[in-house]
Amino acid sequence: MLKIVVCVSGGGTNLQAVIDAISNGSITNARLEAVISNNPGAYALERAKAHGIAAFCISPKQFENRESFNQAFLQKVDSFQPDLIVLAGFLVVIPEIMIQQYPNRIINIHPSLIPSFCGTGYYGLKVHEGVLERGVKVTGATVHFVDEGTDTGPIILQKPVQVEEGDTPEVLQRRVMEQAEWNILPKAIDLIANGKVTVKDGKAVVAKV
Ligand code: GAR
Repeated sequence: MLKIVVCVSGGGTNLQAVIDAISNGSITNARLEAVISNNPGAYALERAKAHGIAAFCISPKQFENRESFNQAFLQKVDSFQPDLIVLAGFLVVIPEIMIQQYPNRIINIHPSLIPSFCGTGYYGLKVHEGVLERGVKVTGATVHFVDEGTDTGPIILQKPVQVEEGDTPEVLQRRVMEQAEWNILPKAIDLIANGKVTVKDGKAVVAKV
C-alpha cells in the first residue's frame, strides 16, 4: 500500500480529485496519510478533515527564517514515512535536502504543457495569463517528478486542452483543471502505486496497461 502525503496551498480541487479517485477505486494500492498546507486558510485543509484525513498547517510565518521552516516542514513530512509526496497546488519551493531524500518520490501537477509556461514565476493563474498573452491554441497540464530545478523533472503524464476564443485566465484555468488536471493527477498516482512508472536516463517510462 503506497503511503501518500499531499502538500497544498489553496482550494484543493486536485486533492479532492485524488480523494475521490481513492474512494471510487480508480486509484488502487494507495492510502492518504496526511495533508500539509503552508497556508492556514487553505480550503484544502477542510476537504481533508471532511474525509477524516489528518490535516496540518506549517506556515513560514510561524518561523524565524526559511531554514527553520524547511526543517519543520521536512520533519512533518518524514513523520509519516511516505512512499510518495504529491504537490497538489503547493506553492512553496521544496527544500533541496528533501528532494535528495525522496528521489523520484515527489510528484507535482503543473497547469501547462511543460516545457511551455513553466519555471520561476509560472504558477496558478499566472500560467493561464501567459498562455492567453502568447496566443497559443493548445495548453494542458503535466504531472512530473520533482528534481532540483523548477518544473524540470521527468514528465509522467500530459494532457492537452484547447484554448477557446474569448477565454479569460479564470475560464481557461477551470477548463484545464476539469479536462486535464483532475484526470492525470489521480491516474499518475495509480500508475505509481501499481509499479508502472520507472525513471530511466532522466525520463519517466510508463508501462503499457
Ligand atoms: C492547480 O491549477 C495546479 O495545477 C496549480 O495550482 C492550482 C491549485 O489548485 N499548481 C501550480 O501552478 C504549480 N506550479 P487546487 O488547489 O484547486 O488543486
